Amino acid sequence: MPLINCIFAETRNMQRLNGVEVAKTIKEQLKEKVSELQKEGKRVPHLAAIIVGNDGASMTYVNSKENDCKQVGFNSTVMRFEESTSEETLLSTIEQINSNSEIDGLIVQLPLPKHISELKVTQKISPEKDVDGFHTVSLGKLLKGEDTFIPATPYGILMMLEQYNIETSGKHCVVVGRSNIVGRPMSVLMSQNTPYGNCTVTLCHSRTRNLEHYVQQADIVVAALGKPGFIKGSMLKKGAIVIDVGITRVEDSANPKGYVLKGDVDFDDASTVASAITPVPGGVGPLTRIGLLKNTFKSYQNTNN
Ligand code: GUN
Repeated sequence: MPLINCIFAETRNMQRLNGVEVAKTIKEQLKEKVSELQKEGKRVPHLAAIIVGNDGASMTYVNSKENDCKQVGFNSTVMRFEESTSEETLLSTIEQINSNSEIDGLIVQLPLPKHISELKVTQKISPEKDVDGFHTVSLGKLLKGEDTFIPATPYGILMMLEQYNIETSGKHCVVVGRSNIVGRPMSVLMSQNTPYGNCTVTLCHSRTRNLEHYVQQADIVVAALGKPGFIKGSMLKKGAIVIDVGITRVEDSANPKGYVLKGDVDFDDASTVASAITPVPGGVGPLTRIGLLKNTFKSYQNTNN
């Protein structure tokens, strides 16, 4: 085959996994379900979010989550607290929401100020309303394969695999990053005996020796290490499926916002080797928020069926 055709064939085969499109489809489905509830005169799902302090990225995320709720017809409540708010105040607010039967899901945006224990806060949220899936009960259930709230980012990745009909069974999935929010639950989900699981999983982290050696063996790479552009094409096996969870604000004076969002994967470089990649922005991010909406709907159904 002439070289030009080869290049064309390779470019054409690389699939851009479009989270915006998938999110749009699933949002429409949720909107439809909410409108059925409204027609029946029923209460609609309600998500509450707590944010403490003025961290720019956290405020953006919470605003987007509120906006998502509006788009699908959920009720939403955002409670904004000063940076100096005491742990006690926060814990008692959570207790009030736990006992409010009109609220189905509660999230406390992380990170929290240093004087507030993230552990105490996540454990205070009732597991029935833990739509982030961060409570020990939720994560314990996930580990055992019991029905639970899957944390939003791993949930979003599963939706992406499902929507693009990506075969996972018997594949080697390398997860890079061991956070309780993404890497660890993702490694568990990919190993489970479920339609978008059944992988052989390797979980790599900051102390992994010769990380490249493991990434190179992966049929599916989940990059969740928080280092912009870290995964290069040379680290990948030909035809690998690359899921980029990274979303770091990198200073950029040419951009009106003063920053650009960068993933953990060098997209252009990796595109020459991978068979499919999620871009940043527009890949996993929009689906993460869908995970939260779906969990809120699930919580609603758990108590209203
Ligand atoms: N901070 C970063 N990601 C998340 C998330 O998924 N949920 C919450 N509550 N805080 C976060």
